[in-house]
Amino acid sequence: MKLASWLKSNGISARDFAARIGTTEATISRLKNARAQPSFELAEKILEATAGAVTPNDFLKRTSSADATPSGDTSGLRVLLIIAGGIAAYKSLDLIRRLRERDTQVRVVITRAGQAFVTPLSVGAIAGTAPYTDLFDPRTEFDVGHIRLARDNDVVVVAPATADLMAKLAHGHADDLATAVLLATNSPVLLAPAMNPQMWAHPATQRNAQRLTDDGAVLVGPNEGEMAEVNEAGVGRMAEVPEILAAVERVAKPFGSKVLAGKHVIITSGPTHEPIDPVRYIANRSSGKQGHAIAQAAARSGARVTLVTGPVDIPDPSGVATIHVESAEDMLEAVTSALPADIAIFAAAVADWRTQKKVAQKMKKQADTKKMKLTLVQNPDILKTVAKGSDRPEFVIGFAAETENVIKAAKAKRRAKGCDWLVANDVGHARGVMGGDVNAVHLVTETGVEDWPEMGKHKVAERLIRRIADHLATDKETA
Ligand code: C5P
Repeated sequence: MKLASWLKSNGISARDFAARIGTTEATISRLKNARAQPSFELAEKILEATAGAVTPNDFLKRTSSADATPSGDTSGLRVLLIIAGGIAAYKSLDLIRRLRERDTQVRVVITRAGQAFVTPLSVGAIAGTAPYTDLFDPRTEFDVGHIRLARDNDVVVVAPATADLMAKLAHGHADDLATAVLLATNSPVLLAPAMNPQMWAHPATQRNAQRLTDDGAVLVGPNEGEMAEVNEAGVGRMAEVPEILAAVERVAKPFGSKVLAGKHVIITSGPTHEPIDPVRYIANRSSGKQGHAIAQAAARSGARVTLVTGPVDIPDPSGVATIHVESAEDMLEAVTSALPADIAIFAAAVADWRTQKKVAQKMKKQADTKKMKLTLVQNPDILKTVAKGSDRPEFVIGFAAETENVIKAAKAKRRAKGCDWLVANDVGHARGVMGGDVNAVHLVTETGVEDWPEMGKHKVAERLIRRIADHLATDKETA
């Protein structure tokens, strides 16, 4: 609401209002007539004095970017906004308002430092619900709880994301509500960094930003421009509200719509462990990160997902039915029991061999034996069994981890295994793919080879799901 309208409807004079918030009548008159914009502190005071009726946004000129063609279709989303301690917190009030205008549910966490810039009262007035501030607040813990706060949303947005909050998140700290929620969430995380240009350029911040991106977080901004402090300019300004809205849409609705809705997708992930005796096993270096990321992306695109995973150290993806297995034989059994499916993606690094004999006791070292022989037999090929089986899903994708002649081997493997597509990657040691967070893959299809640039495993997963959905949609059109 315009300040002038609010004053009029409440019968308060500019002079009384000025006295109430500790400013001059002339300032209120200028603001009333839209001849000036309030300072951050003044906007805050007006917001509180009017119980949220007059927001900072009401002082923006109609032609400002915030009011331009609405960008960022965030409708229907549940957004958890974390406001950390930076002068740009001022813009977050406008962000809340814009989200709500778009039929978006907004819940807000304000850090302790954030409360030095915006108050829970003003945030609550705009958000329509009281913000959360304490990790051990009994109301929060009994009512919502930080775990539920972390889970019951489609995206977590940190705006402004300060250098300190980014450092904590990059290192897994969880000593306040904001960091605990960020660590516990399995929703996509969008960070809008805002800080002094020197702080942003500092190698530590750059390292943290890189690490957060590798962990799957998405950054919007910071932009170049004037800082709040006099004579400070450079890269560090928080992205503008329309940019953040567009990024929220991109991050929370990466597929535009639920492109795989109604499909059942089976995904295998991780290594398998083939027992030698009760305490030893044959394994490989697969971390399961790529397979799990694909499962997560498939679930976000609306599919019903069954993930069959070997032993890994990463959490089960949200919204996915995860079955934990040890050996290749167990994995085959779990996969076949999960059929029928529309799509199957075999990202697991299944051990080719298992020991022939099942040994019930630990094999002891004998003083006189210098050599020890293990007889290995071939494991079932899960991908091949399913791809050539009677219950074959409509679309089958295999993975190939190769250390040499990657493309040639992948093409041959696609044919031999009977899959539709094959995703090939070079796992030679120098590239650090196994266990790492990035991947450079080649997609071998029936028509050729696509070389994808190196990107985070989450990005590879998203792109693969989008490619599958596009392909199935085109297939349907041409059928
Ligand atoms: O033969 P190779 O292990 O290179 O084949 C890789 C592809 O085959 C992957 O998709 C992998 O998940 C799948 N595979 C399988 N069962 C095996 C071996 C490989 O499903 N026993």
